Amino acid sequence: MSGIVLPCIVLPCITDHLVLRTIDGAADLLIEEVRAMASIHSIRQASVDTVECTIDGPLDDLAACGLYATVAVRDLDQSLRTGALSNLPHPVRFRVGTADPAQRREVINATEQRFGWVNRPGDWDVNLVPFADGWIAEIGPLSWTRRFGLLERLPWSTNLIVAEVLIRLAKIRPGQRVVDPFCGTGTILQAVRRQHPTTHLLGLDHDPHALRIAANNALSIATSSPLTTAGNALTIAADDALRVAADGALTIAGDALTIAGKALTIAGGDALRIAGNALAAGDALKITGGDAPGGSKIPLARGTAEALPLGSGSVDRVIANLPFGKQVGSHRANRTLYPAVLGEIDRVLSVDGRAVLLTEDKRLLHSAIERQRALKVVRQRVLRYNGATPTAYVLSRTRLARTTPAR
Ligand SMILES: C[S@@+](CC[C@H](N)C(=O)[O-])C[C@H]1O[C@@H](n2cnc3c(N)ncnc32)[C@H](O)[C@@H]1O
Repeated sequence: MSGIVLPCIVLPCITDHLVLRTIDGAADLLIEEVRAMASIHSIRQASVDTVECTIDGPLDDLAACGLYATVAVRDLDQSLRTGALSNLPHPVRFRVGTADPAQRREVINATEQRFGWVNRPGDWDVNLVPFADGWIAEIGPLSWTRRFGLLERLPWSTNLIVAEVLIRLAKIRPGQRVVDPFCGTGTILQAVRRQHPTTHLLGLDHDPHALRIAANNALSIATSSPLTTAGNALTIAADDALRVAADGALTIAGDALTIAGKALTIAGGDALRIAGNALAAGDALKITGGDAPGGSKIPLARGTAEALPLGSGSVDRVIANLPFGKQVGSHRANRTLYPAVLGEIDRVLSVDGRAVLLTEDKRLLHSAIERQRALKVVRQRVLRYNGATPTAYVLSRTRLARTTPAR
């Protein structure tokens, strides 16, 4: 698997039984990915949006997988001995995720008495939540945002797991040119960059406010090393112990990094962004690339998807969360938008290019594709999350369009 946030940091080895929470429509993809991980065993889909498994070994591969939102443990005693809970700073700070105040108080009291943990609803490492047959403990440092960074969002920003699903459906190959013509706050582009750091990206949107957020988000990819959250959490003992291979892979937000020797080598430009006085180590840091500090950029441009500023046949993958016509746009506007966008995708896509388009305005997209004739649906996947049920359509060229030169 490519796109691991910090490929060289070795996370702890643990033995535990884990519950991974994803979205309805992504569990099979998650299972496929965890099956390939040497430390994961006994994998089973427990419900439409949960996968259970055991781990016996390092956490690195699991922590690098973007297809789940949270990891929880079922057996707290065992986890405290050998599992994910054993690596948290003590006393463990916890919250209780239930709306019922009486039940919450009861669980807080019982947990404080039994484990000696402290209730810190605003600054927690464990979230106790009801599950099928009792309570499970979500591990804060393994949540999606603690592993990959907190992105600024708008109400219509693409769900983080959905973005991961879309880029898997796109089957991106190294070095390909990937465009999101409705990029908004850049969620899909961020996911592509994490998974496929060698791709050439471009994001377009007609909303300058969304583009400003996308630009900020592109500068902030997190680097939190799960389960090492205490002071001096990351200590690099050997020279060159930490190499940052991908643009923007390392963001240090607190006093998290102490460098004693020539421990940090940054190979590419834009690899390191320091927010605050996080780094103080004399001349311990040498930057050999071009304009290394300042964050990693993704090319973004203001424009309309109906007139892409791109040459014919110049793009390998188009991936987009289209306006569904609810929060963004309208069904009426989509009647002209969708055919126009499909026309542009047909124009800019390479002969063996692929487009992945997400919408809830399904009939409209289907009929626009049928009328347009140059593109066909080769796969589709229904996703369910937060009351939405969009379908992701994978499009490739029809045979006729493959043999007709690009206009
Ligand atoms: C569903 S949102 C995409 C969300 C985005 N993937 C994100 O994570 O923020 C649709 C986006 O399309 C943009 N948009 C709507 N009509 C457009 C058009 N004709 N051309 C370009 N962008 C458009 C909106 O501004 C909005 O940001």
